[in-house]
Amino acid sequence: MKKVNIILFGIGNVGSTLINQLLSAKEQWEKNSGISVSIPVIANSTKALFNAEGISKNWQKDFEKSAENYNLEDILDFTKANDLEHLIAIDATASKEFVEIYIRLIQNGFNLVAANKVANTLSSDFYKEIRKELDYHGKHFFYETNVGAGLPIVQTIQGLYQSGEKVTKIRGVFSGSLSFIFNTFSENKENFSDVLEKAGKLGYTEPDAREDLSGNDVGRKLLILARELELNKEFQEVKIQSLIPEKLNGKTSAEEFQKRIGELDEIFTKHKTEQEQGNVLRYIGEIEVASASLEAKLISEPKNTALGQIKGADNIFEIYTESYGDQPLVIQGAGAGAAVTARGIAGDVLKLSQRLN
Ligand SMILES: NC(=O)c1ccc[n+]([C@@H]2O[C@H](COP(=O)([O-])OP(=O)(O)OC[C@H]3O[C@@H](n4cnc5c(N)ncnc54)[C@H](OP(=O)(O)O)[C@@H]3O)[C@@H](O)[C@H]2O)c1
Repeated sequence: MKKVNIILFGIGNVGSTLINQLLSAKEQWEKNSGISVSIPVIANSTKALFNAEGISKNWQKDFEKSAENYNLEDILDFTKANDLEHLIAIDATASKEFVEIYIRLIQNGFNLVAANKVANTLSSDFYKEIRKELDYHGKHFFYETNVGAGLPIVQTIQGLYQSGEKVTKIRGVFSGSLSFIFNTFSENKENFSDVLEKAGKLGYTEPDAREDLSGNDVGRKLLILARELELNKEFQEVKIQSLIPEKLNGKTSAEEFQKRIGELDEIFTKHKTEQEQGNVLRYIGEIEVASASLEAKLISEPKNTALGQIKGADNIFEIYTESYGDQPLVIQGAGAGAAVTARGIAGDVLKLSQRLN
């Protein structure tokens, strides 16, 4: 039996769901894959719970009772002192600062799995540096949930590209929140601001909905996929259409924006009524490989197309390649949510574990 040790950073929505999924699947993994997963360290931004034998189903109570202030050195010392092998650090934070320790983790024998998109969307120099360190130390880095949450997007693009297939275009709805907003607004006779509020109440948008409306999250996902195709791009080169009117941009406080969201109604009603009959609004991401162009934008799409028919908060990805011709490979489904994201991370952990000798 191969024993794999997980050091989990981030025990919020996704991280806590992941712990429960891994503990529940433990016997099945042992029986079917010969892999025994142990979670000796879990941490939030300030405290960590250490247990060399691995945490138990009572981890939440144990964390409240016994978690202690920590820094990275404490974790490195603990893994060394307890001879923990086959180390996998999971980044289930949304932290910009946390990625600064990736290189040190790799240098200290850790493999990485990330739900956090930051590391793959910083400068291409940093992107290459991580991969250089991974190669040098013989370590692995999986990040399937960076795009499409639990949907198998990254592995599909990697598989096509590495097998020599020429990917020509990727186009789709990459954001669960913008999917819900435009699917609902296109279908119902509701004001845009009411739909936006509903999306907030359902937990689809960030506390400040401008994070979603800025299109930056779609831009980051485009960059991650483009880099899989070895397009050497920076975030600033992604053309992103922001849906926030200038008068409500960053200079306005989140509270003031919230009070004034009614001002969005006229703009989006105009977009809706000016469309051709039978069309719907969609906020899409598009990569044109030949011209190396990456674009996030609001479009009007016939309702009877693959993009036009999506519902709820679904994501959809159309992958055009030389062999698939005009009929793209299409992947569609829930592109957000703690359960599907945690399952995607668990899938990464399993695949990574199978590669460890
Ligand atoms: N939810 C989804 O549908 C989805 C889909 C795909 C990807 N993701 C990604 O998954 C990640 C986690 O999302 P979430 O919804 O679980 O976030 P969350 O509920 O806000 O949880 C974040 C966790 O990270 C911890 N944290 C923050 N900075 C840290 C640091 N420097 N070191 C260690 N821990 C730190 C937080 O601890 P404190 O409480 O101490 O701050 C908290 O436990 C994000 O990157 C998100 O983009 C989410």
